[in-house]
Amino acid sequence: MFRLAHVTDPHFRGFREIRPLDFAGKRAVGLANLVVNRSRKHKMDLLEDLRRDLRAVAPDHLALTGDLSNVSINGEWRVALAWLDLCGLAPDAVTVIPGNHDAYVEQVVSDRSFEKLFASYQTSDVDRDPDSAYYPFVQIREQLALIGVSSAVATGDLGAWGQIGEAQLARLEALLQSPQLASLMRVVLLHHPPLVHKGGEHRNLRDREAFAAVLARAGADLVLHGHDHQDERGELAGPGGKPIPIVGGGSASYAGGLDRRARYNVFEIEGTAITWTTRVQDPATTFFREVRRERLV
Ligand SMILES: [Fe+2]
Repeated sequence: MFRLAHVTDPHFRGFREIRPLDFAGKRAVGLANLVVNRSRKHKMDLLEDLRRDLRAVAPDHLALTGDLSNVSINGEWRVALAWLDLCGLAPDAVTVIPGNHDAYVEQVVSDRSFEKLFASYQTSDVDRDPDSAYYPFVQIREQLALIGVSSAVATGDLGAWGQIGEAQLARLEALLQSPQLASLMRVVLLHHPPLVHKGGEHRNLRDREAFAAVLARAGADLVLHGHDHQDERGELAGPGGKPIPIVGGGSASYAGGLDRRARYNVFEIEGTAITWTTRVQDPATTFFREVRRERLV
């Protein structure tokens, strides 16, 4: 059995390396929000509890689907890197993609700041497109092909919407259909949900219909996403109408009520069968425990 852990939206805090210029524009608003709201809703202690649980569960692989930071400051990402260093998994057993908070301002996107720092978690076993397309990348691990897609764009406004873009979608379609992946379980990793669970186009995936069309033509076996900070389950149709499970994870650091409290998923994969389990932090003990076990496929 192969066990794939899925952690998302940890929103690590870390203010080293902050420069006066960082307190401008969208980041000023984001930092104010961080001080007023986020530091109350997202607790770093919960991420330590989660790491302890992850070490005990010892999955074969960990997928981290974005929003590692709040305002895309190197200090936040370095705290995330330090956390990853101590999670008990080798870099090639971890896949990382960015979320909208990791593309908070245009400069970090054009500088590829995130990709430079997380390069060892974004290696690709299939050649990257030499003409710029860094995403998607593919990591083949035993019977799995993990396909890292980026929907993180600098929105230029206060929105949290995402976009994969035509070039990346074309590359994704070709990869999903490539003979190299034909006998593997194709797991697509994406920050934004490709289905609408929460309203508001200022925060949703703009090209979700085009993504659904790619899956309808090329197929996939599982899609994992974050962004909504709650457990979500949906489906998209693959070739011949075969349902593709879409599973969204809640935030790894959310300090609120038990229905959304700090959590992560572990997928147990045996042949073509996938069992979805969810582990949630219990505030009474600080330990995580399993609250869901259901057969997905
Ligand atoms: Fe997000």
